[in-house]
Amino acid sequence: MVRISTLITAAAVGFSYVDALPTNPFGLSGLGGGVRGEIAKREVVLSTLPDGIKAVTGNGAVPLRLDFNDFIKDDTRKNLYLLALSRMMQTSQSDPTSHYQIAGIHGRPYVAWDGVRGGNNDGGYCTHADILFLSWHRPYLALYEGSLHAHVQKIAKEFKAGTEDSTKALAAAQDWRMPYWDWATNATIPELIGNTPRVTVRMPNGQDETIDNPLYSYKYNFANAQTQKNELPSQPFSTAKQTTRVSIDTLNAQLANIGSNLRDRVYNLLADTGYANFARFSNKGTTTAVNGKLDSLESVHDVIHATVGGGNGEMGWVDYAAHDPLFFLHHTNIDRIFAMWQAVNRDNADAYLKPNDDFTSTYGTYAIQRGSKINSNTPLPPFRKASGANYYSSEDVKSTKSFGYAYPETMDWERDAGDFVAWAKEQVNIKYGKGAPPGVLTSVSSATNSMSSTSSSRTTTTSSRVTTTSRTTTTSSRPTTTSIRPSTTPARTTTTSARATTTSARPTTTPSTTSARPATTSSTTTTTSRTTSSTAAPAPPAPTTTRPATTRPATTSSAAPVPSSPVQGGTRPPRGQRTCSNTPWYLWFWSGLWDCFFEARRQHQNQHQNQHQKRFDLGDIADIAGDVVNTVATVVENAIDRIPDVKDLIDHASSLISGDQYTEYVAQIKAENNALDGTFTVYVFIGDYDKDPKTWPLSKNLVGQHSAFTNIGGGHHFTGAGTVPLTSAIINLVANEKVANLGRAAVVPYLRDNLHWEVATANGEAVPSKDVENLKVGIFSSDVKLPCVDGSLPLWGNTKPEYEITQGRPGGLCQGENIV
Ligand SMILES: *[C@@H]1O[C@H](CO)[C@@H](O)[C@H](O)[C@H]1NC(C)=O
Repeated sequence: MVRISTLITAAAVGFSYVDALPTNPFGLSGLGGGVRGEIAKREVVLSTLPDGIKAVTGNGAVPLRLDFNDFIKDDTRKNLYLLALSRMMQTSQSDPTSHYQIAGIHGRPYVAWDGVRGGNNDGGYCTHADILFLSWHRPYLALYEGSLHAHVQKIAKEFKAGTEDSTKALAAAQDWRMPYWDWATNATIPELIGNTPRVTVRMPNGQDETIDNPLYSYKYNFANAQTQKNELPSQPFSTAKQTTRVSIDTLNAQLANIGSNLRDRVYNLLADTGYANFARFSNKGTTTAVNGKLDSLESVHDVIHATVGGGNGEMGWVDYAAHDPLFFLHHTNIDRIFAMWQAVNRDNADAYLKPNDDFTSTYGTYAIQRGSKINSNTPLPPFRKASGANYYSSEDVKSTKSFGYAYPETMDWERDAGDFVAWAKEQVNIKYGKGAPPGVLTSVSSATNSMSSTSSSRTTTTSSRVTTTSRTTTTSSRPTTTSIRPSTTPARTTTTSARATTTSARPTTTPSTTSARPATTSSTTTTTSRTTSSTAAPAPPAPTTTRPATTRPATTSSAAPVPSSPVQGGTRPPRGQRTCSNTPWYLWFWSGLWDCFFEARRQHQNQHQNQHQKRFDLGDIADIAGDVVNTVATVVENAIDRIPDVKDLIDHASSLISGDQYTEYVAQIKAENNALDGTFTVYVFIGDYDKDPKTWPLSKNLVGQHSAFTNIGGGHHFTGAGTVPLTSAIINLVANEKVANLGRAAVVPYLRDNLHWEVATANGEAVPSKDVENLKVGIFSSDVKLPCVDGSLPLWGNTKPEYEITQGRPGGLCQGENIV
């Protein structure tokens, strides 16, 4: 065999090309021509990674893939990246190592890459809603990185020897690895990726030149218009000149609005031992989920795709997503979170695929047959580790070191093996836990404890506790209120006067000795009739907190933030109202209720017809949402789930934490993946929101979203699920005195009246919940024990379905129903 790589310069290329003709039993498919025929004469062998990318085993050090924002701080590293990606994009679209070809592995065009076949011709090679989701994407990313790396090595050598540029480039190339975009730490898209169409680079000839920024978009480069139509058949991609995203200001505002929710989800996935099971954690289609633990890394990943792509951008559709260069920065972060989870779960046998597993590839891929049995040794085509049909398996890629890289949070060298897991947990806390409820409440708890040792601060704590209590008083002082949202004005008056009382009471509260609690009790006694509330106050968030049923209407009405304005869209339809279309049309057939059958089918057809017509008629969401778009800073400032500073929470410590525990709330959402013939999103709000679905992503009362990321026209049929953590928003509501405390007795009635969900397609069209097949939304609570040291994680107690919140609502989980 002649290794083509030696011709290209072995040292400079991350692959070796072998001129062996792979077996091609079915002939060429997809393209009517020789393009793939040419490609099929090579083999891209990923295991032969010369010159820098080497598999490392054991405790050896490897170069790091860095956070994009850190990565670009080094100009040389950044320059090499831009030049290399630019060249990869300019490489002929028929070369298997070009950006187009590697992106094309994922979805469109549905043709053989590097001659690899063997499955279904109606999809790409990617594995979604499948146990291989994470392990398949690891060599996929390594292939992409390998191609970039090869260019980086070559470019570094092109700078004039002996110059400073050359010295720097050669040094940077040595440990060059591609970066990731950590949307869970900071959801907005870095300026260089999102808002910089042209960029100045230092060319190897030493000259600065301004080029099309390869991170901003990929410019399609088809031989002719017909080829593009054949390979990318759906509008608008069949005629697109370059990849696009939702326009950047809108997009960043939308991402910022769900940023802390993404962080909370990622933290829970990494920290909660309820997710310490590979099938549950990894993907949205393998159902080992249990009540209350219905999230997966794939589901979180779907939100980024749906949000970045919208209806018209590549990222929003499985088949097209990888053509956007942001795909690889996003997926590298997914791979990193996966690696962090592996580190935390290093000693857990369920934390990866096993040789004796017996999963099924329900849908197959371009190279995996439908119904194939899957275990850790199942090949991951088209990624060859050696010549011939010799592919990487999940077993081969268990460690990122198989491809010679690690992440800043997964370095297992320079520390004793015995300390590694604790260190990895600490990284999870540092990265995502600090800002999430467990971290914030741990800080509040320790600040409160240390404050109770000094008398001056004790005074502060005491007086603020009084404030809390007086609010409770306000709420509870209106047991006469019966209707939803009644006279709020008197309530406000009461609040004000209660506060006035509190303020004047402050100077007298000093003498209490054992922190604030006795003071709270006594002040409550002076202000109100509600002794039940005040006795509950010392330990409010615990499940033991009991409040009489009469508090509910009061809680509700005091919660209505703007009572004078009409409630827009947030009004709940009458409970229990059912229509024919509550049930999928085809099920009515079996019931014999023919009028329902015809009615439901008509509705189904209309709905899908409309969607089809409108799919690409709509302009960019930015134009429509123009009035609502705010700056990222405003969105973050006003977001309902922005947890206040720890110092502002200390006053509410006793309403938030009970002992070393707090109560967590999550919305768990499931729906038929194919319900709306395309990517769609379920938005979860607490409080009012506008009826116009275009405003939902930017609503200040949006807590988070669950997205189902599919192909155009829909995806596979299965029930997909995801989770929207609610606790950050509720902490904010407690701090703003809208909810008395984090206990169930206060939170459940509040959520029953104020939590809402809505569904919209990728193009921002609303679909009534009752028309979304198999939609179920359930709220689950659990008591979480705070960690006591950095190297440990919180402990989640049993989850409890809070049926009262969702019972009888379209798509709501009903008493006794299971969400899994
Ligand atoms: C988040 O990222 C954006 C874009 O890179 C940057 O402008 C902003 O300063 C970052 N915000 C924080 C809080 O780090």
